[in-house]
Amino acid sequence: MAFQNSAWRSLVLTLVGSTSCLLIFSCNSGTKSNATEAKLPPSGKELYVENCAVCHGEDGKLGASGAKDLTVSTLSDNEVLQRINEGKNGMPPMKSALETKENVSAVAEYVKGMRK
Ligand code: HEC
Repeated sequence: MAFQNSAWRSLVLTLVGSTSCLLIFSCNSGTKSNATEAKLPPSGKELYVENCAVCHGEDGKLGASGAKDLTVSTLSDNEVLQRINEGKNGMPPMKSALETKENVSAVAEYVKGMRK
């Protein structure tokens, strides 16, 4: 009986343990912006690697899906911001993926820094 009790106890503890893990996990993903606000804001580079490198490549030259080479771009500051926010042709609007204006500016500065 003593064995059964402790077996139940550990089963219950395991269940409670894994449920709260799940809760914490879903909580975190549900409040993504709150979670990132608590930390340092992501750098332009981090944002770029996460959101842009898939088409533009880490060095800006990949050209996947018709993406333009960012190292030879001649767009003005405003045009870069506009392209990131609104997209064009094969480039999707990235505004919502980047979440905040600060992130859009940070990634814009980063891509301008790729120019020679
Ligand atoms: C799905 C692929 C894709 C993703 C993801 C993507 N781009 Fe693009 N990007 C393109 C394409 C395609 C173009 C060319 C648009 C055109 O026809 O002028 C482009 C053009 C640009 C331009 C203009 C270059 C020029 O001189 O005309 C900039 C700046 C740019 N992208 C920045 C970014 C940034 C910053 C991100 C991430 C936040 C990003 N892109 C994500 C595909 C992508």
